[in-house]
Amino acid sequence: MKTLVEFIQEQQAHIPNATGEFSRLMNDIGIAAKYVNREVNKAGLADILGFEGHQNVQGEDQVKLDVFANSHFINALEHGAQCCAMASEENEELITFENSYSNRGKYVVAIDPIDGSSNVDVNVPIGTIFSIYRRKSESGPGTIIDLLQPGSQMVAAGYVMYGSSTIMVYSAGQGVNAFTYEPSLGMFLLSHTNLRYPKDGTIYSINEANYIYFSEGVKRYIKYCQEDDKSTNRPYMTRYIGSLVSDFHRNLIRGGIFIYPGTKKNPNGKLRLLYECNPMAYMAEQAGGMATDGMRRILDLQPESLHQRTPIFIGSRNMVSKASEFIENFG
Ligand code: AHG
Ligand code: MN
Ligand code: MN
Repeated sequence: MKTLVEFIQEQQAHIPNATGEFSRLMNDIGIAAKYVNREVNKAGLADILGFEGHQNVQGEDQVKLDVFANSHFINALEHGAQCCAMASEENEELITFENSYSNRGKYVVAIDPIDGSSNVDVNVPIGTIFSIYRRKSESGPGTIIDLLQPGSQMVAAGYVMYGSSTIMVYSAGQGVNAFTYEPSLGMFLLSHTNLRYPKDGTIYSINEANYIYFSEGVKRYIKYCQEDDKSTNRPYMTRYIGSLVSDFHRNLIRGGIFIYPGTKKNPNGKLRLLYECNPMAYMAEQAGGMATDGMRRILDLQPESLHQRTPIFIGSRNMVSKASEFIENFG
């Protein structure tokens, strides 16, 4: 069995001049994920369910696990000293480290510490989403410019899904691999090599309760998914957990499309570019899938602020292309 750490070290060995800093950063993320996993697994016992009593920068109620996970990832990355700045869903401002070791770090990280946190209390799978960039500034604490890079500049991205088993799915630009957590050994072990997004699928995932607010293009695409046509395996199936990591992971394995479109009320949708859409778009492309905002490639969008949102259409290549046709033709 190959561990996550061994796998990353092997990949690094093929990169000339690799210093091992990236491997150490990934290791730090893995360690924080283990802490979060432990807490998620005993959530019902540990008085960690329920709301914290505060709201985050987006005005959403923070649950205790959001706060717990956020502080573990921040601590792990600060003390790991490979990362000079972070953006987190739970922090309005950029997180920089006074610690001089961290200031030398050549990477920055954008993270959603707990994705799907409103589902924690009902035992639905939740996740952590992360993305890693090389800093642009030369030295000292990282700056906002280091974080506002288009997704196409990403060095690596991944997610940890705390589900029926805990799995880390990750890519550093050489395809997508998955590592299942073995709790008795305390290790992530390679379990799925070179995951590929099926080109076609039969699952569409969207919060259809917002239907009346959708654009004509999205409405017509949903109706297309529901039509009867044997040759294209329609009608498709609806599957929507309401936890991006879980919805994405299922569609990656089975084939499907996940949509969180803009609406009349929220033209930019709900999901955040830096720490939700970009890392997932990177993973989708690395697996042969596709991700757009309806018209443009997600990874080409130039971020303007840490918490900006974007509509997203992500998943099997042919399904995302089809949805784009509807957007193009009907708006
Ligand atoms: P978070 O818990 O990090 O705030 O993210 C929740 C997100 C995402 O996981 C999910 O896909 C989406 O919210 C669901 O939104 P709706 O409840 O509007 O469908
Ligand atoms: Mn989220
Ligand atoms: Mn979150």
